Amino acid sequence: MLLTFLGRKKEGVLDGDLSHLCALLAEALQALVTEGLVEREKLESFNLPLYGPSIDEVKAVIALNKLFGIDHIQLFESNWDPYDDMENDGMCSSPQHGVNVAKSIRAVFEPLLASHFGECILDELFQRYARNVERHLAEDNTKYSMELDFHMAIGEAEANYANNSRLQRKALIKTKPVLEKVMRQVYMALLPPTMVVADLGCSVGINTLLFVSKVTSTVADAQCHNELGCHFMELQFFLNDLPRNDFNQVFQSLQQFTKSIAAGHPKGVALPPFYISGLPGSYYNRLFPCQSVHLFHSSYCLHWQSQKREAITVSLLTVLKICVFSISLFHKISMPDKILLSYLPIWNNIQLFIVTQLIKDMNKKMAYLNGENIYIAKSTPQSMVELYQDQFQKDMSLFLKLRHQELVPGGKMLLTFLGRKKDDVLDGDLSHLFGLLAQALQSLFTEGIVEKGKLESFNLPIYGPSIDEVKTVITRNKLFCIDHIELFESNWDPYDALEHDGMHISPHRGMNVAKCIRAVSEPLLASHFGEYILDKLFQRFAQIVERHLAKENAKYSAIVLSLNRRD
Ligand SMILES: C[S@@+](CC[C@H](N)C(=O)[O-])C[C@H]1O[C@@H](n2cnc3c(N)ncnc32)[C@H](O)[C@@H]1O
Repeated sequence: MLLTFLGRKKEGVLDGDLSHLCALLAEALQALVTEGLVEREKLESFNLPLYGPSIDEVKAVIALNKLFGIDHIQLFESNWDPYDDMENDGMCSSPQHGVNVAKSIRAVFEPLLASHFGECILDELFQRYARNVERHLAEDNTKYSMELDFHMAIGEAEANYANNSRLQRKALIKTKPVLEKVMRQVYMALLPPTMVVADLGCSVGINTLLFVSKVTSTVADAQCHNELGCHFMELQFFLNDLPRNDFNQVFQSLQQFTKSIAAGHPKGVALPPFYISGLPGSYYNRLFPCQSVHLFHSSYCLHWQSQKREAITVSLLTVLKICVFSISLFHKISMPDKILLSYLPIWNNIQLFIVTQLIKDMNKKMAYLNGENIYIAKSTPQSMVELYQDQFQKDMSLFLKLRHQELVPGGKMLLTFLGRKKDDVLDGDLSHLFGLLAQALQSLFTEGIVEKGKLESFNLPIYGPSIDEVKTVITRNKLFCIDHIELFESNWDPYDALEHDGMHISPHRGMNVAKCIRAVSEPLLASHFGEYILDKLFQRFAQIVERHLAKENAKYSAIVLSLNRRD
């Protein structure tokens, strides 16, 4: 007999390859339950008649039966995507992988699923499954990295960032006068033949090119008003974002943009020639050659931290296990040896070292625990607050160091990011907002849709510093001096044109805020909690925000900062 069948590489039966593959299918089915397309009882009564044994299990059953002797037994692996010829562990990020896997699984499970759930759900189910698989494969064996995986919401127009970035657009409009001033200072001082301008965290949508058009028209105006004399200047733009940003969409809109910017400009005023390039990569790395950029701009990005903070409940368990193991090891040593060992200073030092390391490790891991909060809240332990603050200091210092290397002497930066109006770190504007999102998650936990462990281990990698914190880190780094710093506020609801303190009772505010937050946090939340919770989560969040805004007005605080490079 020659038999080939699916098996399991790892000994642990709960950690098999099929468990991962089928869990993503279950996640897709759960999403259909949430949307009312599949009955909960139907899902609960369904189990796939499939089992992937380990090699040892196969050997054991053959040995037990005594009917055959094993001539050859071997385990081989193949990628989930049957069209993926590279059988390595590399990243799989092509959108086709999810579809390929979904097709091959559908081909074998379709009759089974159709007879239990009905044929009508199949298309929807496997579309969702394809997306889940896609996300899973892109997560490089389940680890989410801010640098490789973080991006704004893409996909359906209703929820994507490009169509839900009005809040950020308002900030670009608000900071236009500062940008014009900074631009003028740079080109008047340096008069470069080509001015190199980089927008860090450009994202996608109208905001991306709004910045380009503002810079271009500022230079055109200067040329028109003869501010530059006979100096002729070209513009080179670099649009930077993380690799998973939809750069293609930006590139595809360039032709139309070039036409519209020319058409929208007053007749007789020539636009400076401009060239636009995309630059994927994290701005927490070097992006440009030394002293090659004249102006850096970044809007609504620097509050995102470079690291994701996971509460490590599993590691805590590991630490406890090590403690128990050490104690039991000591008990196994015979009494005379123990007495002998206790006289040995080396043994004492080793014990002291192990205990200190364990306590340190434990403290570090405990610091990640933030209860059911997902951002700094009133009940957040001081150790956790410090982690957020340390990360802010580290990220900002690194950012300043890298940009200082890349800026030409005399170059400038204009940065706008979310901050905090009050000095009290526990009472920031973001704490209120994300406190409400945590409430929405908690309510899904109460309904059994979100697991407690998942909720407790999630913390948003975002930080809103106060003006003083920003000043401190810049002063300490001694690489830039502050030209301008100010804090401005905008209402949570980006469609609220009136930036006043009156009461809000419109029924759409909750939904508007929810859409805006979903557009920036969807991939992060989907990767941690699963895509299936998103619709319900943001519906709940919209209701909670709605109630909150009916009681009091709420605002974001943003910090605008212009910096001069120190030589
Ligand atoms: C809210 S969007 C703002 C986009 C745009 N500047 C605007 O005003 O609409 C934040 C952007 O920052 C990007 N981002 C976050 N961390 C980044 C990093 N380390 N390097 C480059 N881009 C980053 C995100 O991918 C996202 O596109």
